[in-house]
Amino acid sequence: MEVHRAIYERRAIRAFTPEAVDEATVRALIDAAVQAPSATNAQPWGFVVVAERELLREYAERAKAHYLTLELPGPYGSQARELLQRPGYDIFHGAPLLIVIYAASDRHDTVSDCFLAAQNLMLAAHDAGLGTCPIGFARPFFGLPDVKEALGVDMDWEPALSLVLGHPAERPEGPGRQPARMLAWRAGASTAQSSLARHGRGEQVGDDEETAVRPAGVLIVAHRTAATPKLLAAIHERAGRGPCAFTLLVPRSYWDPDTEEAAATLELAIPLLEGAAGGHVEGIVGSAEDPLAAIQDALGRGRFDEVIISTLPAHVSRWLHRDLPHRVEQLGLPVTVLTAEQSHRGFAVPPQEERGSR
Ligand SMILES: Cc1cc2nc3c(=O)[nH]c(=O)nc-3n(C[C@H](O)[C@H](O)[C@H](O)COP(=O)(O)O)c2cc1C
Repeated sequence: MEVHRAIYERRAIRAFTPEAVDEATVRALIDAAVQAPSATNAQPWGFVVVAERELLREYAERAKAHYLTLELPGPYGSQARELLQRPGYDIFHGAPLLIVIYAASDRHDTVSDCFLAAQNLMLAAHDAGLGTCPIGFARPFFGLPDVKEALGVDMDWEPALSLVLGHPAERPEGPGRQPARMLAWRAGASTAQSSLARHGRGEQVGDDEETAVRPAGVLIVAHRTAATPKLLAAIHERAGRGPCAFTLLVPRSYWDPDTEEAAATLELAIPLLEGAAGGHVEGIVGSAEDPLAAIQDALGRGRFDEVIISTLPAHVSRWLHRDLPHRVEQLGLPVTVLTAEQSHRGFAVPPQEERGSR
């Protein structure tokens, strides 16, 4: 699998089938983990694998109990406490295997190296069709002297992160991501211009200051899902962050060459989007039948900082099936994907929309 795809597809998995993961696979994943970079190539990681069901159950209970003895200040603390106190809450999510990554404590900042190794492992597991979830709740427990002793781990190892691993019994959508918070980007005018040109923006920006004050350009790409609650919430949230210029692009669909339906979608959706944005939302019908071409064209017509793609659930979305978000990402802008719940489809139109051949 392509790395880019693995990065975008990987999700924290919290439901597993009872099937065990074979030893060779676990070893291969750990081998992928240790390919991670580390400061001065110190490779300061060590691994513990627990695949004994009984022991996992015992550790799950003890780790939970231990976490609840800790001082957990603030709203995060009370949320964590509430979650852990739910009857039957299994901190290992029923996974058949746990990997604890320990960091050598003989030098500074080794835990960050271990986190890089953990990410390698999670991506490699996803590539192998397996699921992982980091379990921060277990970290304090694996630092207890008696636990280290029972596992045969020397006292100078510090737990960095534990991960559960198994065959996924779910394909969650994940919580999504906000566009990166750009705290600074100092570049000379020529660099800024070439970067903007790469993003397909027609106009050139003269200096950094202008870039900083203009509203954030958000291109929303949607058809049937042009006004779902998720999309409205995302727009409301973006608008709350600061001035935004929203544009809704409804690509022409293959069964609607005359764009009548796209125009009707705009007409229905724009007022709802404007309600969520608290201001004007521009609407455009895609210039091409291919959504990617329509997006490229739209990006060329204005200044955009983000693309939001709103589409049908993953199993029926033609756009997701064709990997549209990834292809748009390659145009150089951050992409957020929002998939509608079945019951939240935007408008009643023929059932074959966005389905097509898969
Ligand atoms: C350091 C760390 C600790 C985490 N601890 C837990 C945990 O204890 N339990 C859990 O279910 N998920 C845990 N997660 C998973 C995050 O909740 C999850 O990665 C995040 O919500 C983003 O979702 P995604 O991984 O599906 O994109 C942890 C993630 C990280 C990076």
